[in-house]
Amino acid sequence: MLIRTHTCGQLRETDIGATVRLNGWVNSYRDHGRLLFIDVRDRFGVTQLVFDPDGGISAEQKVVADRLRNEDVVAIEGKVRRRESVNPKLATGVIEVLVTNLVVLSKTENPPFLPDDLDKLPAEEFRMAHRYIDLRRPAMQKMLATRHKLYQVTRRYFDENGFLEIETPILYKSTPEGAREFLVPSRHVPGTFYALPQSPQLFKQILMVAGCDRYMQICRCFRDEDPRADRQAEFTQIDLEMAFVRRDQVMEMMEGFVRRLWREMTGFEVPPMRRMPFREAMEDYGIDRPDTRYDLKIKDISEFAATVDFGVFKTALEKGKDRPRFNSKRGVVKAIRVPGGAEKLTRKLTDGYTEFVKGFGAGGVAVVKVVKGEDGSPKLDTGIAKFLEPRKAEFLALMGCEIGDTVLFVADVYAIATKCMGELRQKVARDMGVVPKPGAEGGPWNFLWVVDFPMFEKNKETGKWVAMHHPFTSPRDDQMQAFLDANEEDDDVIESIVSAGYDIVLNGQEIAGGSVRIHDRAVQSKVFKLLGLTPEQAKEKFSFLLEALSFGAPPHAGVAFGLDRLVMNFLGTDNIRDVIAFPKTLTGADLMTKAPSHVPANQLKDVHVASIIPPAAT
Ligand code: AMO
Repeated sequence: MLIRTHTCGQLRETDIGATVRLNGWVNSYRDHGRLLFIDVRDRFGVTQLVFDPDGGISAEQKVVADRLRNEDVVAIEGKVRRRESVNPKLATGVIEVLVTNLVVLSKTENPPFLPDDLDKLPAEEFRMAHRYIDLRRPAMQKMLATRHKLYQVTRRYFDENGFLEIETPILYKSTPEGAREFLVPSRHVPGTFYALPQSPQLFKQILMVAGCDRYMQICRCFRDEDPRADRQAEFTQIDLEMAFVRRDQVMEMMEGFVRRLWREMTGFEVPPMRRMPFREAMEDYGIDRPDTRYDLKIKDISEFAATVDFGVFKTALEKGKDRPRFNSKRGVVKAIRVPGGAEKLTRKLTDGYTEFVKGFGAGGVAVVKVVKGEDGSPKLDTGIAKFLEPRKAEFLALMGCEIGDTVLFVADVYAIATKCMGELRQKVARDMGVVPKPGAEGGPWNFLWVVDFPMFEKNKETGKWVAMHHPFTSPRDDQMQAFLDANEEDDDVIESIVSAGYDIVLNGQEIAGGSVRIHDRAVQSKVFKLLGLTPEQAKEKFSFLLEALSFGAPPHAGVAFGLDRLVMNFLGTDNIRDVIAFPKTLTGADLMTKAPSHVPANQLKDVHVASIIPPAAT
């Protein structure tokens, strides 16, 4: 073959007159009779080739060239010359190569689709099945290059800051950390299984006990949960841990990383990131990852609502009224003011909101519009207007309402009302068209830290406590004593303990999460106990951790960034599958290799798996 001297994106005006060799794929061809033009493409760009029988190509080779089709792979030799008409869209647009020698390296079958034909891009599943063609598309090549650059910037930053890159095992022990695990049967010990790690959490903590001081890894994590737009069962983290630090040192280091990353990837200078307490996030935005790019805020109007003669409010406010404020079971009334909603939020939309919140456990959404009365002053209209009318002035002042607004209400216990309002806020923002569309570089960017999460929350189905971050997260320093003193039976106290966890939220998406860890065996044991593990179970699952903690554990803390989500932001896509070379479908399938697949019985026998239960029986 003619080994290339240049890539297809490399030749410029200064190369005119040079003899060069190029290798690549036929991107397009235009047959002008005697003259044949072919654009040849590789990862680096596109170059125009000219086949001219008067330009040095043999008659036999011209016949071969005339038969070239899109996606054939060729090697050519030729002379660089100036083009008659410059193509400003191409980096190589000033020149073309007059071909003198052609070797066809590989003929293609009829391709399932053409990587360059954006108008006829087939459905995603079809592209995933033919990923080798899909990845040839310039957008996908840009994605791969973006990921690569992100790895390099990451490694440079953490190397400069004294972090050691250390690999941790993929074949791991089954430990309850939150999500369902992928299991791998052992051949050597019948009936035993490895689990694939949900994250290297415990290994990185052990590395701190082992004196490694600062750890980083770009690692795969596996969680057998249903994929979503920004979730894959197999995904990548930038995983970090630091010893001899508290919360502020980790946050400072990670903020520095975010700043470096955005500077190098986009040129955007990330301003100092504000810290929003979890409670403020839940109160104002109804979610622990608020999208602060738009202004809609939720208001707790329980006090006012108690003065309104409306049955739904009254019933809700009766619930758990002796419980502390913010307690999940205490009844509340929450409202959201939507400027301009009176016109834009049609009856059909607001009726839909009731159905929408039912999905999150509330009975419905109450609505009122603020319209212009006959005398020009604000008038309450539709929905629950008649109940609010006697308290109209207070209501308008409380909500800061103006003519043209709609106000939406949810009345229920704190946990449900907050969740419904958080979801509703996002839906309303989409319906109102106030969510900014990402620009070419992905921005605008709104970063914030969310801090001061509760340590524990109740699992709705089992009624048992679960760790809000993970069971290795420490109480916030000033909460440690309260935690140690807490009576495990006292739900309200347990619910009120604040952790030393922190998340980085970008435009409503959690891009990183971490915490200060427990480095004291007694504290860790108490957490396990609260989570319902007996001392025997804790020992069986976590003896290595508890032991390690008893042999000189430094205070330590860390964080993990969702790498795929970072790339999504840099490329302005909301589909995680667009940023992974070989992603899985929503049912966890790899459509190209057709994994998962059945295995022969003898292979199952080797790993001591006796039989497969048919799905109907499970
Ligand atoms: P956490 O579970 O919060 O923390 O994960 C850290 C970050 O990883 C990303 N992420 C995901 N990305 C794609 N698909 C998924 N299924 C998925 N799950 C999580 C998110 C998230 O912020 N060991 C702890 C970290 C620590 O405490 O240091 C952990 O894994 O961006």
